[in-house]
Amino acid sequence: MSREWFEPYNPTSPFASLYEEEFKLPLERTLEEVASIEKIIQSMDNKPRVLDLAGGFGRIGSLLVQGGLVGSLIDLDLNRRLLKVAQKSGINNAIEGDMRYLGFTADTFDLVLLMFTSFGYFVTPEDDLKVLQEAKRVLHLGGTLLLDLPNYDRILQNFSPERDLLLLDNSKIVYRKELVGDLLIETRTRIFSDMNQAQMPPIRLRIYNQKSAGDACLRAGFSAVHAFDQNLQTYEPTSSNRLWLVCTV
Ligand SMILES: C[S@@+](CC[C@H](N)C(=O)[O-])C[C@H]1O[C@@H](n2cnc3c(N)ncnc32)[C@H](O)[C@@H]1O
Repeated sequence: MSREWFEPYNPTSPFASLYEEEFKLPLERTLEEVASIEKIIQSMDNKPRVLDLAGGFGRIGSLLVQGGLVGSLIDLDLNRRLLKVAQKSGINNAIEGDMRYLGFTADTFDLVLLMFTSFGYFVTPEDDLKVLQEAKRVLHLGGTLLLDLPNYDRILQNFSPERDLLLLDNSKIVYRKELVGDLLIETRTRIFSDMNQAQMPPIRLRIYNQKSAGDACLRAGFSAVHAFDQNLQTYEPTSSNRLWLVCTV
């Protein structure tokens, strides 16, 4: 079976050993997101049972647990190494798994989080849909899925095809973005200080906007979908940083 780009099979895959350096977010952004999630939680009757789907090293989940904001929290991720980090930051329930196939019975959670562009990874849109269908299946009636996506409308309007990132060992990664059909593909080339180069697996994201992501959530069986930005303000395709879809079962 062919390997998929998001699997940590290769140390140079995007979610493998360099993950923390490549995808480091400013603490202010994480705190802003947690504050918005707290508002969503406050609208619930009880402290929710939360599934942090593709929760990684617990960037969000650990703060929710430490803040006593949740009744329980499970971090499910494909990457065992990131889950070990999550456990060290206070998440006792860190489970290795694929977000398309959840081993939980129906009705297990009140809130499912899918944060920081953890959607649109698969070869087919049908597999993306499976993630939403599984989230819906494991949620309690009245439960909520929070889907956090980039504002792709804005990214495409201000398309910058190349960027680079200096790593701690003084090598750098050069990213080149291109649009191929409905995919945003970012190739990654590592350039070492002696100028040797190594090609790394690319990042491949299926582009979803407010309409197509909302339609996918409705197709997955959610009864209502509301679009916000990351501060729970009205989503503006021309200016919002993030697209937050709050989907209700
Ligand atoms: C960009 S990170 C986001 C992590 C976390 N949600 C956050 O907000 O910091 C994407 C995560 O998805 C995980 N992942 C990728 N494919 C997955 C899959 N098929 N099933 C479960 N997790 C997956 C990666 O291991 C990585 O931790």
